[in-house]
Amino acid sequence: METVLGVIGSPISHSLSPIMHKAAYDELGLDYTYHAFHVESNELKAAIDGVKGLGLKGLNVTIPHKVSVIQYLDHIDPLAKEIGAVNTIVNDGGTLIGYNTDGEGYVKSLINRLGTSLTNRRVLIIGAGGASKAVALSLAKSGVETIGITNRTLSKAEGLSLICSPYTQSEAMTLGIAQARLTEFDIIINTTSIGMTPDIEKMPISLEKLSKGSFVSDLIYNPFQTRFLCEAEKKGANIMNGVDMFVYQGALAFEKWFDKEAPIKVMKDTVLKNLGGVK
Ligand code: ATR
Repeated sequence: METVLGVIGSPISHSLSPIMHKAAYDELGLDYTYHAFHVESNELKAAIDGVKGLGLKGLNVTIPHKVSVIQYLDHIDPLAKEIGAVNTIVNDGGTLIGYNTDGEGYVKSLINRLGTSLTNRRVLIIGAGGASKAVALSLAKSGVETIGITNRTLSKAEGLSLICSPYTQSEAMTLGIAQARLTEFDIIINTTSIGMTPDIEKMPISLEKLSKGSFVSDLIYNPFQTRFLCEAEKKGANIMNGVDMFVYQGALAFEKWFDKEAPIKVMKDTVLKNLGGVK
């Protein structure tokens, strides 16, 4: 079973992780399989015990288990500990190690898309939940000049801003203030689920004041281009949907399991093809 990997979550049937990872194994001639395992919360401990019992090589972890899985692992990587969530488990000879590749995956996808480092960038993050925390902490550690965090519940934005403050200048603000101060930021990231199918008409904030040439990104990839990104593009912004982050978090997980560079292009092409052939 040491040739078996997979992802656990609920719901899980629509996960693109199995086809993405299988494409990577095929590309590199690796004789491994990757499965989607439907695991409910009351079965999580048994599922993780099964990783050791069956000798699985590793797992990805998705909603709703990223936080609760931590208690069943042997070691947690410091960044995952700080984020408070695990999305990747490595079975190292019976010792289960938890990592979080979501935030680093986002940062890598952003640097790759911008083609430059993040130094001097002023970033506005919309949302202060789990996804936001991974992205905000990783960005804070990657040299951005400042991070603004805005959220419907201001106290959560304040809490996250405090967590980022040892690493970069950070500030929490209401949604209204963020909208009014939009021109102060050159990268704007939606980490909330607002605009996701089926509520595709919704926007997390108004982009009325967006400056031309800004970079606007949405972690959502269903729909492929949210209304938020469509409006940003109309205003002359460069845009990035959630596919890149998804691919890079998977690539970083691959590298933890196999200790070799992931075939990112093949992985991304496979995901795009399965999202309907959009490039
Ligand atoms: P995830 O792990 O995907 O980040 P989460 O931890 O539940 O999910 O966080 C969801 C985020 O989306 C939060 O920032 C939430 O705002 P609140 O903290 O105020 O709840 C935001 N969010 C979700 N639905 C929203 C809505 N309809 N309007 C405004 N914000 C919303």
